[in-house]
Amino acid sequence: MIKFKSLPYSKNTLQPTITKDTIDFHYDKHHKGYVDKLNKFIEGTPYESLSLEDIIKKSYISKDTKIFNNAAQIWNHDFYWDSIRKKIIIDDLNVNELDKNKQSENLDKDILMQNKSPKENPPPGDLLNKINEDFNSFEEFYKKFVETGVTLFGSGWIWLVQNPNTKKLEIMQTYNADSPMLHNKIAILTIDVWEHAYYIDYKNDRLSYLENVIKFHLNWDFAKNNIKL
Ligand SMILES: [Fe+2]
Repeated sequence: MIKFKSLPYSKNTLQPTITKDTIDFHYDKHHKGYVDKLNKFIEGTPYESLSLEDIIKKSYISKDTKIFNNAAQIWNHDFYWDSIRKKIIIDDLNVNELDKNKQSENLDKDILMQNKSPKENPPPGDLLNKINEDFNSFEEFYKKFVETGVTLFGSGWIWLVQNPNTKKLEIMQTYNADSPMLHNKIAILTIDVWEHAYYIDYKNDRLSYLENVIKFHLNWDFAKNNIKL
């Protein structure tokens, strides 16, 4: 029996970027629907005793499409809820602290980091350095992540992943229920770009949904736990 995992926050935590109305449908109807369907499909089959990850891998290889789609969608949604968090406000005190820290760094590093640090919801320093290293700057990461979501045709997911061979961070799209684990990539963060993730709040404006989520709500602490720095 695969569990319908609890949301890691209350349903109004992400407002106004993602409203409670959206979560009511997205979590209680869509996400729960995948769990209910999967449990029905695997009952009395060899899949019943497997973990969610093993169900995904086995059904992918065996081309058991109905089982794969529902299992992978559960995993992707569990990962999505963990990939976002409430908006972090940097108050004046924190800005002053950041400025003080900057003054203590040497000038070259200061120049190097100019315009490479986000003003809102900044990743922890070592993760920010990794993003600057792999994407040239945080701004470039931001633009590429938004663009990857906007250009995904139809339904799917955008991911920040780590390549286990090069250790570099990369951005990828997956369609429908597809997942990085099937492409030898380690998932770090994801954003759901199925219409059900934003249509109530943004109608067809996927761009604004992506900009708001990526600017204010990415859970960098969760990302840091997934990454090998
Ligand atoms: Fe979804």
